[in-house]
Amino acid sequence: MNTIQITIWIILIIPNIFAYQCLTDQWPPKSKSNIPTYVIDLDTPPFQRWNQIVTLYKSQIRDVLDYTKHFIVNTWPVFTFLIDIMHTKLSLIADTLPEPYGQELKGISQASGISLGEIIFYNIFYEISSLCTSIVTQDQNGYIIHGRNLDFGLLLGWDKVNKSWILTNKLRPLVIAINYTKNGEIRFQTISFAGFIGAITGIKPGRFSITLNTRFDLNGGYIGIIEWVYNINRNQSFVTLAIRDMLTGAENYDEAVEYLSKIPLLAPCYYIIAGIKPEQGVIISRSRQTSVNIKTLNTNNQWYLIQTNYDNWRKQPAIDDRLTPAIQCIETKGKNNTNFESLFNLLSSQPMLNKLTIYTTLMKPSTGQLESYIQDCHDEDIPCIPW
Ligand SMILES: *[C@@H]1O[C@H](CO)[C@@H](O)[C@H](O)[C@H]1NC(C)=O
Ligand SMILES: *[C@@H]1O[C@H](CO)[C@@H](O)[C@H](O)[C@H]1NC(C)=O
Ligand SMILES: *[C@@H]1O[C@H](CO)[C@@H](O)[C@H](O)[C@H]1NC(C)=O
Ligand SMILES: *[C@@H]1O[C@H](CO)[C@@H](O)[C@H](O)[C@H]1NC(C)=O
Repeated sequence: MNTIQITIWIILIIPNIFAYQCLTDQWPPKSKSNIPTYVIDLDTPPFQRWNQIVTLYKSQIRDVLDYTKHFIVNTWPVFTFLIDIMHTKLSLIADTLPEPYGQELKGISQASGISLGEIIFYNIFYEISSLCTSIVTQDQNGYIIHGRNLDFGLLLGWDKVNKSWILTNKLRPLVIAINYTKNGEIRFQTISFAGFIGAITGIKPGRFSITLNTRFDLNGGYIGIIEWVYNINRNQSFVTLAIRDMLTGAENYDEAVEYLSKIPLLAPCYYIIAGIKPEQGVIISRSRQTSVNIKTLNTNNQWYLIQTNYDNWRKQPAIDDRLTPAIQCIETKGKNNTNFESLFNLLSSQPMLNKLTIYTTLMKPSTGQLESYIQDCHDEDIPCIPW
């Protein structure tokens, strides 16, 4: 692609940054967008339980890590010190994490032949920067539905030929669903990346569902990780492991909300939780120490909640406003249209769908329904916006 083509493409993109879609014809999803499911048996020792998945995916995990390291060294040389920390310090984290996580990470390192420091890096970089849209809605019968797009890979390399984000492309084949079982029964399920032990999207069938969105704050994830590595403060949880702890321990919606509102965290974030009864939907906006805002469903006038990556009670940045178009679209579809089809159509509309979008998940905690689909925004009728 030459400069003229790139210029033309940029000119075509600009109007789309401000154009909203609200599609109605994306359902059912294409069959090639299905993702595979694996079982993590919590009755097997932590060191071994990831072996099957890691053996299948180790070359793709290696590729993501090699790509990311080379990209950082070549493009953001000031951050090369992070690579040094990864090799020298990060492996020490394994012994400071509560069990079973340290053993699981060591087992993944052993099964993949990838160094422990790199496996830990792979497990913490989702903590810091993913752009997402999460939605909880309540239908006219009081059932709660929860949907999300996971967007990841901004500024980590642009493929000029395919006009797409390189890391985003490399991560799509790593998306898996995991059934965590105990005594042969499902305890909870997550949508994850192979080799990633935390939770970003999860459901405890018949009880609640949870999604995580990144929140940007000056007191952000890097500081928490540095505090952890240098043992300044380890009385705080990794945001994605806090979700897994919650999925393990909480038995109902109220316990889930209570736990994630209070636990000290390494990074700020938004936790979005849906339950099984009317009005059981919440956005918890977290600082590292506490919840700074809690917004809940309310049958009369608040039948949906939408969270992107900016505080929902403030004006959204014009350059990345996915909240306003999502609100317009959901209002157009209406409360009577609250179902997987309309939510999938909304999450497949630009700018909720964009070049960073990796997958869409739809969940109904009351029935345990969980559906996830790989997303890949193609430049067809109109070019996709990059974020
Ligand atoms: C995971 O759980 C779902 C829901 O119970 C089930 O349909 C599916 O077969 C399970 N997958 C595997 C690989 O066990
Ligand atoms: C870009 O597209 C070409 C041709 O379809 C493909 O071979 C290549 O793997 C793609 N690159 C990436 C990074 O997806
Ligand atoms: C660690 O955090 C917990 C939970 O907030 C709190 O109860 C406890 O006092 C803290 N411990 C220290 C040493 O700060
Ligand atoms: C929504 O559905 C309810 C009950 O099924 C019905 O009474 C109402 O008129 C519908 N509203 C719209 C806007 O279609």
